[in-house]
Amino acid sequence: MADAARGMESLPVANVQALAETCNNGVAEPVPRRYLSKDPSAEEVVAADDSSHAIPVIDFRKLLDPESSEEECARLGSACHHWGFFQLINHGVPDEVIANLMKDVVGFFKQPLEAKKECAQQADSLEGYGQAFVVSEDQKLDWADMLYLIVQPRESRDMRFWPTRPASFRDSVDSYSLEASKLAYHLLEFMAKGVGADPASLRGVFQGQVRGMRANYYPPCRQAADRVLGLSPHTDPNGLTLLLQMNHDVQGLQVSKDGRWFPVQALDGAFVVNVGDALEIVSNGAFKSVEHRAVIHPTKERISAALFHFPDQDRMLGPLPELVKKGDRVRYGTTSYQDFLKQFFTAKLDGRKLIESFKLE
Ligand code: OGA
Ligand code: NI
Repeated sequence: MADAARGMESLPVANVQALAETCNNGVAEPVPRRYLSKDPSAEEVVAADDSSHAIPVIDFRKLLDPESSEEECARLGSACHHWGFFQLINHGVPDEVIANLMKDVVGFFKQPLEAKKECAQQADSLEGYGQAFVVSEDQKLDWADMLYLIVQPRESRDMRFWPTRPASFRDSVDSYSLEASKLAYHLLEFMAKGVGADPASLRGVFQGQVRGMRANYYPPCRQAADRVLGLSPHTDPNGLTLLLQMNHDVQGLQVSKDGRWFPVQALDGAFVVNVGDALEIVSNGAFKSVEHRAVIHPTKERISAALFHFPDQDRMLGPLPELVKKGDRVRYGTTSYQDFLKQFFTAKLDGRKLIESFKLE
């Protein structure tokens, strides 16, 4: 595979889980300046308990039911246009498949550092255990470690980076990625329907292509939780992202809307789904790739897993003719998706900067 989704070389930085242990213990070391990136008073965050400002909830069962499908498709389209984010309930991915994934992702991060290092990133790849998007010696760093793997199709896997412990890790990721992708492709059909296009049009761009899974470990930060960021503001470069959060009592993900940050209260058993750059482009802007970030809790860790669905990397990517509405114009340039990903992975995360550069005046 000609594979920009594997990423580029990144500079080695400290293991944040280990650093957090030193900073959080009794005789605390100060948090290194490179992690202090956020001015807590600079941006408005909407109160987490204000449910009138929550991201929309979409019911997959209603999408399937002929009685309610049309109405729910319209709600789905509106969520993807106005928020770029929604929570999906009644999604049909078996509880057991999700529970196994969660158990094994948590199990991986709970191992001693030496064991996790067996999956460490290497110079030729962004897969593996470590950090992403570290491109210069002096940039600010995120308060998190991650394990990134290309998980499907099976022949695209690089087993150097796949944990052997927990012993069931590989099977759990395999089942989960297959089940969750089936759901994602089904959602793409409903999204196309929602804007009056052929259900096969969007699905066809992504089905069977590369899927990456990024498991994120956000340690607590007792001294300066309001000044560190777990994940810098960014958009996802892929099509659809399905996110699972392991501990629902810890709020971390925030979504940008109208210049404010909206905390996402993950519902138990639901997926948080979001639109990425590739989907904004192929939908000619009907669906928006919205900036999001992850914040840190002072005393509790948070673990999440994001499944990214990429389009064919060997193809040119531009608005699909059937998604350019009558009377509208083509709003995005057409680009080699491989070049797009290369640009994404060799820069620091920077909000909507990259996708904006593909917009036509
Ligand atoms: C991501 C992401 C959010 C989270 O991995 O791209 O946005 O809550 N994660 O971990
Ligand atoms: Ni993201």
